[in-house]
Amino acid sequence: MQIPVDLIDLVLSADHVVALTGAGVSAESGIPTFRDAMTGLWAMYQAEELATPEAFRRNPSLVWNWYQWRKQLVLEKSPNAGHVAIKELSDIVSRFSLITQNVDGLHQKAGSRNVIELHGNIRRSICFDNRHLQEEAEGAGLMDVDFDIESNHEPPPECPQCGSMLRPDVIWFGEALNPGYLNAASEAAMTCEVFFSIGTSSLVHPAASLAEFAKHSGARIVEVNPNPTPLTPIVDYALHGAGGEVLPELVSRLQAANGQG
Ligand code: OAD
Repeated sequence: MQIPVDLIDLVLSADHVVALTGAGVSAESGIPTFRDAMTGLWAMYQAEELATPEAFRRNPSLVWNWYQWRKQLVLEKSPNAGHVAIKELSDIVSRFSLITQNVDGLHQKAGSRNVIELHGNIRRSICFDNRHLQEEAEGAGLMDVDFDIESNHEPPPECPQCGSMLRPDVIWFGEALNPGYLNAASEAAMTCEVFFSIGTSSLVHPAASLAEFAKHSGARIVEVNPNPTPLTPIVDYALHGAGGEVLPELVSRLQAANGQG
């Protein structure tokens, strides 16, 4: 992949660089995306049956066990070269903000810190009624079988504080994002000089609006994705390819230009 020379200069001279990541950055770790045809989770399951508060009220056992299955999948996976390159990018630039829509925690596993997790984290649970946070031991209560939507499922555990049902600490369709995280993400988008949109379909708002905020605030936009998205027409650099290939190449060019290569 040819990385444009002026992009290297732009990133190295920027005071603040932001990256927004989506499911595509974890695809090479073996975690299915949502919208890729055939393999995406929403091609296999109905979002409204599994990822809404109404779905949980209707069938808490089904929703809890689907998320337990996804949590098990995530706990077994490791960061890929794309996650590692994003951590390395944060070490190269003056100031770096990482915003992710992913709930898998793989950026943190790769060493990234202060990650703004816009859609929560599947490893944590909260209770449905009062959002009491549950710190669980890694791997606690996981299933060792594949998820089957037709079978009978165990009900979710109860919150030790108030007795209401536990649910994953993720954002469901129809739920508002954590205002603190959204403000931090918006502030980063509006103050950066370079905004990377990596492995996201740019279809889900408000996350997808962040690149537009950045563009309107004068940032240059870089997209890393093997496929075009609704964002592509307004980006300054479209790096077509997999995150695990494009990002290490970008980082090695930056390191070389910085005299670290
Ligand atoms: P999507 O599944 O919508 O999009 C994944 C994107 O990753 C697509 O644009 C792919 O082309 C791209 N992609 C696939 N493989 C890639 C690779 N190896 N490297 C780079 N890109 C690759 O996932 P998101 O945009 O993250 O929300 O979805 C946004 C939100 O919709 C999710 O956070 C989730 C979902 O409903 C909630 O659960 C609230």
